[in-house]
Amino acid sequence: MTGGLDERIRRLLDRDEELLASPWELFDDVREASEPAYYSEAMGAWVITGYQLLHDIVVDTDTWSNRSPTATYEFRDPVAEHADAIAQEPDMADAVRRFRSRSRGRVLNTADPPEHVRQRRALHRAFRPARLRALEPEVRSVSDALVAAFAHRGRADLVREYAVLLPMVMISRMLGVPEEELEMFKGWSDDFAIPIGRAKPSRDEVRSYIRSESEFEDYFSALVEQRQHEPRDDLISDVANAEVDGQPLTHEERMGALRQFLLAGNETTTTLLANIGHRLATDPELRSRLAADREQVPDFVEEALRHEGPVTGLFRVATCDTRLGDLPVAKGEFAWLSFAAANRDPAACPVPHEFNIDRDPNEHVAFGYGEHYCIGQGLARLEAKVGTEALLDLPNLALAPDHTDAFMDSYILRGRTRLLVTFDPVGHDGAEGR
Ligand code: HEM
Repeated sequence: MTGGLDERIRRLLDRDEELLASPWELFDDVREASEPAYYSEAMGAWVITGYQLLHDIVVDTDTWSNRSPTATYEFRDPVAEHADAIAQEPDMADAVRRFRSRSRGRVLNTADPPEHVRQRRALHRAFRPARLRALEPEVRSVSDALVAAFAHRGRADLVREYAVLLPMVMISRMLGVPEEELEMFKGWSDDFAIPIGRAKPSRDEVRSYIRSESEFEDYFSALVEQRQHEPRDDLISDVANAEVDGQPLTHEERMGALRQFLLAGNETTTTLLANIGHRLATDPELRSRLAADREQVPDFVEEALRHEGPVTGLFRVATCDTRLGDLPVAKGEFAWLSFAAANRDPAACPVPHEFNIDRDPNEHVAFGYGEHYCIGQGLARLEAKVGTEALLDLPNLALAPDHTDAFMDSYILRGRTRLLVTFDPVGHDGAEGR
C-alpha cells in the first residue's frame, strides 16, 4: 500500500486547504495506483476514482447500500459524543432528547430498494419537467433581480450576493414558504451540512445542528399537516400527499425528503453557480463566445458540472462479501465513490483536465447515475442555464484584484465560499442599462 497516497488522503480528510482547492492530482495518482480500487486506511474505505467502476457500483444496489452516504460509521461518532455534553445544557436538553428519539428512517439518499423505489415513485411528480418549464420565467426574473441589485456597483461577491441566493429563493418558492423566512432557511441548510465531510465538528456546531433539526421538524410538520387539508401547487403539498399504490409516505419519509430537498439542492447548486461565475470571470474568450451565442450555454453548464463536480464523493457500504476487480471486499466495508474524480478519468473522457464546451458526448456523473440519480437535476440545470445568462449581462466580468480563492470546509462537497469580481457598472447611474 502506498503510504504517500494515504497520507495525502488523510490531509484531504483534515481539509488541507491546498487539497480542497485542487484534489485533481491526488485523484489521478489514486486512479493510477488502483487495480481497480485503492483502500485508504485513513478514510476507512475503498476510494473509487474510475468512471467505469463507479458505474458498476452504483447500478449494483443489491451489493452496495446507500445506508450511510455522507460518512463511514467512524466519522459519525463525534456528533453523538458532543450530544452527551450538550444534553447537560438546560436549554438544550429537550432538543437533544428529541434528536435522539427521532427516527430518521431511510429516505431517498439513505434508502435502498425496495423502499427507495417506492419513495422515488411517490415523489417523481415534485420536479416534473412541466413544472420546471413553467418555472423558467420566474428563475429568470429572480436571477435578473439579483444581478440588478449589484450591477450598478461594478463589483460583487458572486457567492454571497448571487450563487447562495438564487437556489435558496427558488427552493423556498417551490416549497411554498414565505420569502421573509429565507434567512432561517439558509441557517438550517448550512447547519445540516455541518456533519457532511467533517471528521470533527465542534461542540458549538453540533449544538447548532441539533437545534436546527428541531426547528426544521416543528416548522415543516405544521406545514405538511396544513397542506394535507389544503393542498396547493407546491412541493410541500406534493410531499404531504405523495402516495404509491394508495399508500402514503410515512412522517419520517416526508420530513427526510423535505430536508434533502433543502440541503441537497442548495450547497450543490450554489457551488455550480460559483464555478460558473469563476469560469466566466477568468476566460474572456469563452465569455464572449457564450454572450454571442446563448444556445451554447447548456453545453457550458454540462462542462462546468463535469470539470468541477460539486459533489466530490459519497459512500456506499457492502451488504455482502464481494470483489472490486480481483480485490476481495468484506461485508460492511465502505467505498467512497468520487463523482468528481470519475469525471476526470481519461479512460472515459479525453484530455479530462481541459475545460472544453465542445465535448460530445459529455456523459459526466456529477448528478450520479442509476437508482439514486439526482432528483433535482432538472432544477439545478435550469438555475445554472438561466443563472449563467444573467451573468453574461455583466460586461468585462473579471476576478477582483483582491480576490483569493477559499473553499468549503468539506471533503464531500467542494465549492468556493467567495468570488470577488469586478465588471463595468450597468444600470442605475445612467450607464448602459439592461
Ligand atoms: C448542481 C447541483 C446538484 C448536484 C451536483 C447534485 C448532485 C447529486 C448527486 C451526485 C446525487 C447522487 C447521490 C448518490 O448516488 O448517492 C444526488 C442525489 C440527490 N439530489 Fe442532487 N445535486 C444537485 C442539485 C439538487 C437539487 C436542486 C435538489 C433538490 C431540490 C437535489 C436533491 C437531491 C436528492 C433528494 C438526491 C437523492 C436522490 C435519491 O437518492 O434518490 N439535488 N444529487
